[in-house]
Amino acid sequence: MIVCVCNAICEDRLRGAARAGAPCPRSAYANLGCEPQCGSCLPYAAEIIDEERASLLSVDAQAA
Ligand code: FES
Repeated sequence: MIVCVCNAICEDRLRGAARAGAPCPRSAYANLGCEPQCGSCLPYAAEIIDEERASLLSVDAQAA
């Protein structure tokens, strides 16, 4: 599913950037070689990044 139409960023790529350490959409987009254009995707992108990072923390906590 496309999250950012302006940059053609799909959800999988955004989740990958979050797993690689990007804490916010601007950082994730920069890691993917682009930057926000219209900005309409940013709230949804932030939700996805927060969700992915929370799931990583959960996995880390279970492994500890
Ligand atoms: S839809 Fe992402 S910047 Fe426009």
